[in-house]
Amino acid sequence: MPSAQLQREIEQYQTRTPKSKTLQEQATQYLPGGSSRGTSYFDPYPTFIDHAQGHYIHDVDGNSYLDFMINATSLIIGHAHPEVVEALQGQASRGTAFSGPTESQIRMAKILCDRIPSMDTVRFTNSGTEGTLNAIRVARAFTGKHKIAKFEGGYHGSHEYASVSVHPPAEKLDPRGPTAIPEFPGQPPSVGEDVIVLPYNDLEGTERIVREHRHQLACVIMEPVASSFGYLAADIGFLQGMRALTEELGILLIFDEVQSLRVAPGGAQDRFDVVPDITALGKIIGGGMPVGAFGGREDIMALYDPSEGGAVIGHAGTFNANPMTMVAGEITVNHLTPEVYKRFDRLGEMLREKLRAVFGELDVPAQVTGVGSLFGIHFTSDEITDYRSVIRGDRQMKKALFTGLLNEGILLQTGAAGALNTLTTEEDVDTLVNATRTVTQRIR
Ligand SMILES: Cc1ncc(COP(=O)(O)O)c(C=O)c1O
Repeated sequence: MPSAQLQREIEQYQTRTPKSKTLQEQATQYLPGGSSRGTSYFDPYPTFIDHAQGHYIHDVDGNSYLDFMINATSLIIGHAHPEVVEALQGQASRGTAFSGPTESQIRMAKILCDRIPSMDTVRFTNSGTEGTLNAIRVARAFTGKHKIAKFEGGYHGSHEYASVSVHPPAEKLDPRGPTAIPEFPGQPPSVGEDVIVLPYNDLEGTERIVREHRHQLACVIMEPVASSFGYLAADIGFLQGMRALTEELGILLIFDEVQSLRVAPGGAQDRFDVVPDITALGKIIGGGMPVGAFGGREDIMALYDPSEGGAVIGHAGTFNANPMTMVAGEITVNHLTPEVYKRFDRLGEMLREKLRAVFGELDVPAQVTGVGSLFGIHFTSDEITDYRSVIRGDRQMKKALFTGLLNEGILLQTGAAGALNTLTTEEDVDTLVNATRTVTQRIR
């Protein structure tokens, strides 16, 4: 049952979005719940988009939103950037996907390998899901071991081995520590047996579990900046400890930097100076086109080398490294100079500080997490350190804030998190801060 405050925001949203409602009714005839994508759905129905330009998105009812969702952080230089549009138009007229490679994939691979400390070589996919899937697969093949470890509450895409203890319900959590909780009914029990679940930011607890399973563990996969915890950066000591522990035990460390590549030119590994064995990527490197990638140490990635008798791991993919994605990605990543990251840090810190001040001023218990261009809001007085601290927060308030901000012309992620982009100004930061004050006064 939504709270009365949330219900009022929903009603206001409904009066502003009648065409979206009609489209949702049509969509539900052909798509389950009208949807193909979990993160773009919210109750009572999502805003159907007409078009987007720069950092504004426009819905079918003629409402405009200042976009901090920015397609789940991916459009880091804004929607329909003129250079990206031009490159895509040019490429489209010369063909969108071929059975043979193009020069553009070499340029894009070089950019990533030059920037990302762990990346000697890289392969492209069409989603971050495929990136993490292949990162895990190569870790298994390289080590000859079959178990993997991930952190409670960590999201790494929607494939089977990543779908364990991603959103475990509070009532299923063992107070003694994380356990493998399946995400769907009918998941093979072997998945739960082969995925070991760890406590984020708890080096001692993690070390104990990892040591116990060391003979079967191929890898630990983790986000150095945990997206689903409101872009919480892991404690540096924890990251360093994870690196030392996995190295000592011959377990490969995978950083899922699908989102955290945003925090420095070479991602969180560059910012925090902790280098994993394998890195998975997605989102911003596609410049708005579907993308994923995985790369790392040359000896590990060599298992995908098809030359001289064939690869140890076969990896096809009809649209892998297609030139549309490569040219859009190249332009986008080339825009991300060290100065851009400095500006993100400054604006991001300004936003987080101002949001904290607003919640303090209104006497609403809240935490604001995030690093660089990424931010997350939690309605709790507890410090955010891991999944359990996140879900102790008031989720109705998050939903009410999200819906209330929509009513004020601002789009966040449904979990009250978001991202800046290169077009974001100090005025935009103030617009978000002021709207947050207005909405919080209404919903508290
Ligand atoms: C940390 C992380 N890993 C993996 C993925 C999966 O990427 P994709 O949605 O491109 O499959 C996501 C997507 O949100 C993500 O945030």
